[in-house]
Amino acid sequence: MTKPHSSLIDCAVDAIRTGKLVAIPTETVYGLGADASNNDAIQKIYQLKGRPTDHPLIIHVQAPPNSCKDIEKEWLTILSPWTRHIPESALSLIKHFWPGPLTLVFEKSKSVLDSVTGGQATVAIRSPAHPLTQELLRRFGGGIAAPSANRYGRISPTSAADVEAEFPNNPDLLILDGGSCEHGIESTIVDVSGEGLPKLLRPGSISPSMIKASAGIDVVSRGNAANQPRVSGTHLAHYAPHTALYLYSTSDLAAQLDSLIREAPKAKFALLVWEQEHSHYEAELKAYLNHLTFTAIAMDPALLAKQLYRLLRDLDQGQYQGILIPSPPKTEAWDAVRDRLQRASFGSGPSSINHMSS
Ligand code: TXA
Ligand code: MG
Repeated sequence: MTKPHSSLIDCAVDAIRTGKLVAIPTETVYGLGADASNNDAIQKIYQLKGRPTDHPLIIHVQAPPNSCKDIEKEWLTILSPWTRHIPESALSLIKHFWPGPLTLVFEKSKSVLDSVTGGQATVAIRSPAHPLTQELLRRFGGGIAAPSANRYGRISPTSAADVEAEFPNNPDLLILDGGSCEHGIESTIVDVSGEGLPKLLRPGSISPSMIKASAGIDVVSRGNAANQPRVSGTHLAHYAPHTALYLYSTSDLAAQLDSLIREAPKAKFALLVWEQEHSHYEAELKAYLNHLTFTAIAMDPALLAKQLYRLLRDLDQGQYQGILIPSPPKTEAWDAVRDRLQRASFGSGPSSINHMSS
């Protein structure tokens, strides 16, 4: 029997207060949460996830209540334990996009644990837009540090069942079931810690042009400087399924299939096609039909983002030799999905773990 929400949240608050881990639903993906002020609890995140301890975590904070009269002042109060300086541009981003799928990187205050920031001088913070997690944050009263609730390098979970599949039968992990995630890919990360314009560290469902349109702020791409902050999702191999994932361009799909099937004549492949091209491909690829299972996908970046990790997880269970997916268009609207697919394809396959953490 499912417990009423309030008693479930009581259990979650109690778990966080006593240094345990709680998987939290957010509008992006599920997080593996712990009290951001408790070093022992933070260590448990790294251990369970198998993540190197110098890869920093995002601190999740509550949002001011709707009834709040001075929202700006309230945000400053909520952030004050964690940040040393909040630039004007950041305050504007917060007012436009929080709670929501945007993480901001600030200069950190002295009291933030090194284990949360990986020893860096900055701290990543966001206020998630999921009501269950907001209630947990309000009742707990502190910050919850949480990476995505997947094993290191693997696909982020977008449902409570996915979290259970990542960490099966774990009596030390309480999973708060908040349904399927609305956005389905991780938050956009923008660095507001340095001089100059805010920098995009990870694309997500909030794009630089959306930020420009609603807040009037220019966000620039990260440069190639060697001293960039570490963002584990920016390692080339990440978000990867166990099955090999191939990105194809429409013009050479037939040739790519031909060579894959020649290498493994008995193999089956999952072929994802844009839905409007489904019938065209079924006709064009007649010679290979025995080897293929077709799945039509929407040519809509927000919709595909929402379904992407679910789809990859399901296909990963399908005993396929490989998954083929079309390369998304090279436009800004597709940046986040393209980024995740490129990393997933680089890190995919049974031996990916060997080259993953370089
Ligand atoms: O949507 C999300 O952001 C989800 C949900 C659970 O909030 N969280 C998430 O966490 O994706 P994680 O740990 O899988 O990815 C967070 C990224 C990492 O790539 C990490 O390196 C980066 O944020 N990060 C954390 N602190 C940072 C900092 N001080 N400077 C630069 N990047 C930082
Ligand atoms: Mg992650």
